[in-house]
Amino acid sequence: MRAAFRATPSNSRFYTSPAIYELDLEHIFYKEWLYAIPACQLVKAGSYVTMRVGAYEVIIVRARDGEIRAFHNSCRHRGSLICKGRQGQVAKLVCPYHQWTYELDGKLIWANDMGPDFDASKHGLKPVNLRGLEGLIYICLSETPPDFEPFAQLARPYLAIHDLSEAKVAYTSTIVEKANWKLVWENNRECYHCSSNHPALCRSFPLDPDVAGVSPDGSVSARLQGHFDRCEASGAPAQFRIAEDGQYRLARMPLQENALSYTLDGKAAVNKNLGRVALPDAGTLLKFHYPTTWNHFLPDHSLTFRVTPLSPMETEVTTTWLVHKDAVEGVDYDLKRLTEVWIATNDEDREIVETNQQGILSPAYVPGPYSSNQESGVIQFVDWYAAWLERSLAPMRQAAE
Ligand code: FES
Ligand SMILES: [Fe+2]
Repeated sequence: MRAAFRATPSNSRFYTSPAIYELDLEHIFYKEWLYAIPACQLVKAGSYVTMRVGAYEVIIVRARDGEIRAFHNSCRHRGSLICKGRQGQVAKLVCPYHQWTYELDGKLIWANDMGPDFDASKHGLKPVNLRGLEGLIYICLSETPPDFEPFAQLARPYLAIHDLSEAKVAYTSTIVEKANWKLVWENNRECYHCSSNHPALCRSFPLDPDVAGVSPDGSVSARLQGHFDRCEASGAPAQFRIAEDGQYRLARMPLQENALSYTLDGKAAVNKNLGRVALPDAGTLLKFHYPTTWNHFLPDHSLTFRVTPLSPMETEVTTTWLVHKDAVEGVDYDLKRLTEVWIATNDEDREIVETNQQGILSPAYVPGPYSSNQESGVIQFVDWYAAWLERSLAPMRQAAE
C-alpha cells in the first residue's frame, strides 16, 4: 500500500482480512457508481441480468417503454430472490415463492389473497439508482449517490464516437480469480509483467513506457502527444484526462506499430466497424473507472471488463466483447479470432494474481518498492484507494474521539 501503510508485514491484511474487505464494500462498493453492463446486453423488453455486489442482489431489466431500470432483487413480501438466474427473458417479474407479480417497471400488479386493506402501490420493487452513458449502464447502491455528471461530461465525447448504442454482445466471459479485488486492479495497472506473461497480448500491445506511458504528473512523450494529435485531427478525442481524485481516466493509446486491433496478426478482428473512428491505427481508448471497470474501445470493436469482489480473496472478472449489431459471425468476424487474445490474457492474469495472493499470505511478506518507471499506475491506484479509505473513515475517527 502507499508509503504510510508500507512499513509492516501486517499490510497483508489489506489483501486478506474480512474486516478490511467489509470496509471496502461499505465505503467503496456500496457508495460509488459501479459499471454493470453494456445496454445492448438487454436486447428487448423483459431482458434482464442479475448481479451480486457484496450482500446486495440487483436485477437490471429493460421495461416495455425501452428504459433500463435496476431493482433490489428481493421480494416485497417475505424477501425471496425474484430472479435466480444470471440473465434471462421474462414477461413479468414473478416471485418464485408466492407468485407476487411485478411489472417490468417494478410496480406490484398481483398478490394473491392479501385482503381488502392491502395497498399494492406501497409494495413495488425497491429501485436501485441507474445511469446510462453512451451505451454503458452504471448502478449505485447508495440512496444518496455521488454526482455522476463530472464523469459523464468528461467521458461522453470520448465514448460517443464508438456508437455503443449500435452494438451487440459477441461474447461474454466470466472468470473467478482467487485473489483480493485490489490485487486484480494492481495487476491491471501495470505492464511490467506483460513481456514474460502475455505472449498473445504483446503482439499488439506496446510495452515500452516511453511509447505508451503517461507520467504521474500527466505529461506525455512527444511521440505519444503526436498520436493524440493525429487522433484528434481525425475527430477522435484522445488526450489523456484523469479525475482530480484519480478515480477515472481516459486516453486513446497507440498499439504496436502496424497493429490495428487485439489480434494475433494485428489486423482488425471485425470487418464492419463499431463506431466512427476514422483512423484505423487510432489504437485503443483506455478508460478505467475505479472500483469496477476498465475498458478498451478500438476502431473495430469494444471490450468492457467488470470487477466484482466475491469475498476477501475471490474476485469475479466479466469481459464482454462488443461488435456492430449488423456484423455477422463467420462473415464479418471469426469469434475465436476476436476473443482469443483477451481470453488468454485474462487467464494469464488470473494465474499471476492468484500466485501473488498466495505469496502475500506468507507471514514473511513485506511490501517491496515499486518501479517508478513501470508501476506508476499501481502507485496511482494504491494512492487513490488509501486516500478514499482515509476520507471515508475520517468521520468515524472523529466520532470516536
Ligand atoms: S416472498 Fe415473494 S411472493 Fe412471498
Ligand atoms: Fe496482465
